[in-house]
Amino acid sequence: MSILDFKPEAWTVSANDALKISLVSENAVQFSPSFTYPIYGDAEQIFGYKDLVIHLVFDSVTFKPFVNVKFSDKLKEDAEDVIGKLLKFLPEGDVIVKDEEKWVDAFQEEQKQFSFPSDDYKVSQYNKNGDEFVVYKQNITNHFCKKLHRRVQIFVLLFIEAASYIDENDQNWEIFWLFNKATKQCIGFVTTYKYWKYLGAEQFDQSKELKYRAKISQFIVFPPYQHEGHGSILYNTIVDLWLKDNNLLEVTVEDPNEMFDDLRDRNDLERLEREKFFDTVPDNKIIDEQWIEDQRKKHKLEKRQFSRLIEMILLHRKS
Ligand code: ACO
Repeated sequence: MSILDFKPEAWTVSANDALKISLVSENAVQFSPSFTYPIYGDAEQIFGYKDLVIHLVFDSVTFKPFVNVKFSDKLKEDAEDVIGKLLKFLPEGDVIVKDEEKWVDAFQEEQKQFSFPSDDYKVSQYNKNGDEFVVYKQNITNHFCKKLHRRVQIFVLLFIEAASYIDENDQNWEIFWLFNKATKQCIGFVTTYKYWKYLGAEQFDQSKELKYRAKISQFIVFPPYQHEGHGSILYNTIVDLWLKDNNLLEVTVEDPNEMFDDLRDRNDLERLEREKFFDTVPDNKIIDEQWIEDQRKKHKLEKRQFSRLIEMILLHRKS
């Protein structure tokens, strides 16, 4: 040991740098998380190792998880239990730790059995750069959905700030899955929630079907597939499906970050332009509140988002 080894910094590493996530197909694609504080604490630092690398690996079809850890030196007494902390957020009994050969055998066997949900759950299909992609929607209580969701849910902690796990026993959760049809790779997923809306006793007695507001809660396109337009297509697929539903009153989004706000604004504006809404926005300095409210309801948008869009349309008109 050198004198430098007595300094705590010598044994402290950034958890965001140490954790390496990989999606494995024929090749492995490795990337770093945006956040690790839910797993390794607010400071996102790990104590007790030198040259620490924590490998969190998934096969890109079934997402069977594998965890391994490498380091050049470790403090015997004080080193954090880096694997134990990670395992708390992964499905119990499903993760293979350290034994890579066992993991390869396990996911290859699972891949042989793997099949998509039936066409009853299919929402849409599209072609992008010569590949076919397919979107399914399933309730969280569905077996396929629950199993895959338990494996991928850690991505919301690693990539969405302030995200937490959803209650898989609450039947109001529905998940949209995006897959590459030929390779069967899962490209991304979106958790969504339905809030049933009580419109008063009279309407409740008259209408047989309940009205609801729908929320996009957690929206993820896995890093290797980002910036290819999948996020926009998936967002539009979900919104189009909801807009067609007569029982849906409003589309909402939970705590969108800047990236998602951009994606949402761009796609909402494109939709409103296609629907020839731009020309109907009055030129008056103060727009009649009732007009805004009527239009907002017609387009099933929430207040904050609709105001932003009107503002952008007016700015665009001035420029
Ligand atoms: N070539 C190059 N760029 C492209 C292409 C293309 N063929 N197609 C689209 N793009 C650009 C878009 O113009 C856009 O550019 P911008 O960022 O400068 O505006 C950008 O790529 C992203 O658009 P998409 O490709 O449609 O979206 P993507 O598939 O990358 O998904 C998302 C976006 C969901 C935000 C993704 O980055 C992600 O999962 N991030 C991590 C998790 C996250 O932040 N989720 C949102 C949290 S908020 C919430 O969950 C409600």
